[in-house]
Amino acid sequence: MGSKSLAYTGFFETEVPEDEFIISRTDLKGNITYANDAFAEISGYTPEELVGHPHNIVRHPDMPRSVFQELWETISQKKTWRGLVKNLRRDGGHYWVSAEVSGVYKDGELKEYKSIRQPVSQAQKIVIQTKYDQMTLEENKQARAIHYLTKENIEKIEHLAKVTDSSEDDIINQAIEKM
Ligand SMILES: Cc1cc2nc3c(=O)[nH]c(=O)nc-3n(C[C@H](O)[C@H](O)[C@H](O)COP(=O)(O)O)c2cc1C
Repeated sequence: MGSKSLAYTGFFETEVPEDEFIISRTDLKGNITYANDAFAEISGYTPEELVGHPHNIVRHPDMPRSVFQELWETISQKKTWRGLVKNLRRDGGHYWVSAEVSGVYKDGELKEYKSIRQPVSQAQKIVIQTKYDQMTLEENKQARAIHYLTKENIEKIEHLAKVTDSSEDDIINQAIEKM
């Protein structure tokens, strides 16, 4: 096989419901101290599985590092950070959220951080994904390519992989080499 290496990701996007808030709290280091049921459901974990883990348990590899650097800089200055975040589900799929992260204070003292999230429109997702791809390219010198496959093509690839006893990656690589 050639030097091309592709990851076949037949992963799906989960739409964030309009009528529910995805809520979490973390300690000052970013370890989850509370997760509501909506957060658990959308991420594919149970609240018990989320609590105690660093919040990067849902970090998606498509997210530029600088977005989180900016988030931490903002909240450590006791300001509110707002931004669009693509999160990783336990099953490898993703969901987009419009997030607001800020401090939780007791007697004026910063004790924890909290985050509340809402859905992102389809148009916003396209704009922000393009921007994040550009940022990731600059940060990692590595490009990401998305190919949209029809359901029929996915089924064909899966069928071919099965009957030739090879991986979906191999089938896609062979097709690309013939191009
Ligand atoms: C309250 C709060 C909520 C957060 N929510 C998310 C989130 O939904 N997704 C995410 O990837 N990072 C979230 N983060 C940022 C993570 O702590 C972490 O910085 C990020 O996932 C990048 O991982 P890294 O710092 O290990 O590179 C949150 C942080 C805080 C304080």
